[in-house]
Order: sequence, then structure tokens, then C-alpha cells
Amino acid sequence: MSLLHKLCGIVDDCRAEYEYGKERPMRWNFVQSQQVVQKAGQDRRCTEMIGGNLLAQGDNAAFMEWLLREGGMGGKLKMIYIDPPFFSNADYAAEVKVNTDKIKLAAVKQKAYRDTWENGMEEYLSMLAYRLLLIRELLAEDGGLWIHLDWHAVHYVKIIADEIFGQENFINEVIWTYKSGGVSKRRFARKHDTLLYYGKSKKYYFQAQKEKSYNRGYKPYRFKGVKEYRDDLGWYTMVNKKDVWQIDMVGRTSSERTGYATQKPEALLRQILESCTEEGDLCADFFCGSGTLPAVAQQMGRRWIACDAGRLAAAQTQKRLWNLGADFTVWEAAPVQTDSPVCRSKSQRQKEGKLLAEAFVKPAGVSQSELLTVRLLRYIPPEGVYEMLDEKNAKAVKRLLKKDSLALVNFWCVEERPADDGILRPKRMMMRDKNGLALECEVLGNSFGNVQGEIAVQVWDLLGGHQTAKVKIEKENKR
Ligand SMILES: C[S@@+](CC[C@H](N)C(=O)[O-])C[C@H]1O[C@@H](n2cnc3c(N)ncnc32)[C@H](O)[C@@H]1O
Repeated sequence: MSLLHKLCGIVDDCRAEYEYGKERPMRWNFVQSQQVVQKAGQDRRCTEMIGGNLLAQGDNAAFMEWLLREGGMGGKLKMIYIDPPFFSNADYAAEVKVNTDKIKLAAVKQKAYRDTWENGMEEYLSMLAYRLLLIRELLAEDGGLWIHLDWHAVHYVKIIADEIFGQENFINEVIWTYKSGGVSKRRFARKHDTLLYYGKSKKYYFQAQKEKSYNRGYKPYRFKGVKEYRDDLGWYTMVNKKDVWQIDMVGRTSSERTGYATQKPEALLRQILESCTEEGDLCADFFCGSGTLPAVAQQMGRRWIACDAGRLAAAQTQKRLWNLGADFTVWEAAPVQTDSPVCRSKSQRQKEGKLLAEAFVKPAGVSQSELLTVRLLRYIPPEGVYEMLDEKNAKAVKRLLKKDSLALVNFWCVEERPADDGILRPKRMMMRDKNGLALECEVLGNSFGNVQGEIAVQVWDLLGGHQTAKVKIEKENKR
């Protein structure tokens, strides 16, 4: 059967699955692992849990189902941007630089995500159709969806999205054109992506933007009632922004660059957000990659929800948003437990990696305060993270860890008074940057630790893995 004939079936099957999904027990739950509150003066435990800024790692269909069913988020989102895999039949990598005081290593390349589909276009479109149904339910009546694609699949997705959103709710096809390497002698150079913009209904919110339109020959027209301006290039008028946008890609030397393949430029997302959201609106990206949408939303005073299936993507987004001073919560997918928990075998525990740290207190010499010092000693990532590397890179990383057991630490934090709920509420994050990484953290205060006299330390590695350990606080003079 041709793809054209299959298209209706794809949407019908996804609709049936979606209706059934509303009744069936949830397969995945999302568990909060961190609450980041950086702004002074806020009650650390009062940040809105759902509806505020929220980052999740896990499959986005499961996450959207959870938002709808557990979070009551149906109809609450003003704008959703998705930049899914493009059906490019390729796998994508991320470059991670592992440079410590002891080691200078070339960038480690690791798999970021796959865009290969065993059952071809049909499988790809089914994946997307199911998610579009969930997205539609999440959108507010005046909300809008942006689907970012390219020539590989956009024409089929347009038909599917028309079916789900209604042809009458299609607003724009925006062409993002850019310069990039790579040409073929057998066709015109492919230098644009396509963004499909849909409203949930006719009530969609839209704020038209203006742009310069240079006069022919850059000379003044002197038409009556038309305001004209002049700059170094010549004379122009201001017109409504057109649907072809020329914006540079994130270049090799750009300060925005995260190393994540297929990262989109902030300027593109800024333009989108300006057109369809206002300050305080809630927007989301369910294929967030390195976190461009949440980063721009944060800078523009919008609230955001971000999700990615990849550990590395989620970790990069977390670091990016922390560096922007955002307050947010971090959630992780966990299978809904149907059987009683099984004891973990020794080999299983070994696969989970190792995190060692020490913590001690001493009088600070200032009133009654104490000084808590926490030192990272060793971090061996869970075995699973090596699956993201090819053999050569995995060997290089293992060699590196033998020389420096902290070489892979990307960022880490301390929870001085861990609560029983298992959620970490770190006040600061020690980040690896071009100047290196602080391996020690000092906190001034009182009554550190939980009832067992422990603090919690959490480490995120450069490959997107993370581990948390409880560390007993010792008195300085006992050491
Ligand atoms: C094109 S990239 C997004 C890049 C992003 N816009 C940026 O600026 O960095 C697509 C992302 O979708 C994620 N992804 C693919 N399938 C997913 C799924 N089922 N659930 C959540 N994320 C998924 C991939 O891990 C990948 O990071």
C-alpha cells in the first residue's frame, strides 16, 4: 500500500490509541528529583510544582500523558514548539570536552539521539501523530503550535497535522533560511528548514512584528502617508514581518554553542516567542535537546516546560537554565511499579557506578555558626552511560578515569538538609567551566544534615548520567 493510502490509517490508529490511553493505567510516572530556587527571598519549598518552570527527562508521550492526567495541564499552554528528529536517517552526536588540570583530551563524541526508523516513514509519522494529539489537548484555546522540520518529512507531517488541528487552523509556513556547509552538484543547495504554525482555534494569540523593507534602488519613494527611514544601506519602510526568516545557524565559534548536534539559534526562538506569547505565558518544548526554547523563554520572562528523552540533553538543559539564574524543578521518568520492588543484585549495583564524597563541620568562629565543608573524592559513572560512546571513545574515557577519577564531573551540588521526600533543593551548583571545577564547597550555617546526620551530594557527569549519595557529616577534629 502506498504511503498516501496509509496516512488516514496512521491518524485513525493514533486516535484510537490516544482514546484508549486516557483510560488505561499510566505506565510511567514522573518523579521530582530537584527543586532549584536561586532567587533570594523566595520560600524554597513553595515554588509552584507543575505550571512553573519544569524540566523532565523521559519519553515525551509519557510525560505529556502525565501532565494531562496527574498535572491537570489540559488547555493550559500558550505555545508549544517542537523540533523533533527530521526523519533524516542519521544518528546525531554531541561533543564533550573533557579537560581537567591533569588531562587535556580532545572532545569526546557521544551519541545524542537517533533519527533512524526501522519501519520507515509510517513509524515516524505514527510517533508524531500520537504526540500531536496530546499537544492539542495541552494547548490553551488561544494557544499555538510550531512544528520545526525540513524537506525530509514536512509535507507528510503537514497532512497529518491538518487532520489533527484542522486545515482552517493552519496559520503559517515559515521558512528559516541559513548559510551552512555542504552542497551537491546534483541539486540546488538545501539551505532552509520549514516551520508549520497552527492555532488551537481561531482565537489564537498573535502579535504581528515589523521589519525593514528596503526601497527599490534604496532611494526614497516619497509616497503620501508612508513613513520612510534611512540607514547606512539606504531608504526603507517598516512592514509586517514576512514568512521567510534569514537567521544564522549556531556557528562553531558562537557563544551560544553547546556542542549538541542540531542546536537551534536563540534568535529564531526569540522571533517565535515574540509573535505568539506575552510575558508570564507558559510555553513548552517536548523535544528540547540542548534547551534552546526554555533558555530563550527564561530570558524573555515566559514560564516554560521542557522535556527530552536523552540524559545528555536533559543535563545540558539543566546546566544552561541554571546558568541563566532560573528557578525550576527537575523530574525523571520512573516506571509505575506494579510488582513489589526486587532486591538488586551485586552486579546490578556495580553497574550503577560510584560517588564518594566527604563532609565535615567545624565552628566557624562567627557567633554560633558552623562551617560545613564538602569534598568530592571519586565519581565513576554508571555503566549505562558508556552505551552513548563508541568503542574508541569509551576506552579513552575509561583510561581517563584511571588517571583522574573526577574527570567526568560536569556539575554537582549539595543538599545540606535532605528532606524525606528525596527532592534535592540545592542553593548553589558547582559547574565545570573553562576555568575548571571546584571540588570543594563550603557552607556557613547551623544544624546541617538530616536526623541521621547526613547531607546529600548529587553529581551530573559530562555524558548526562547522574548519581546521588548520602554522606555522613563528621566533626573536623575527628579527621
Ligand atoms: C532536533 S533535536 C532538538 C534540538 C533543540 N531544538 C536544540 O535547540 O537543541 C531533537 C531532540 O528530540 C529528542 N527526542 C527524540 N525522541 C524523543 C521522545 N520520544 N521524547 C523526548 N525527546 C525525544 C532527542 O533526544 C533530541 O534531543
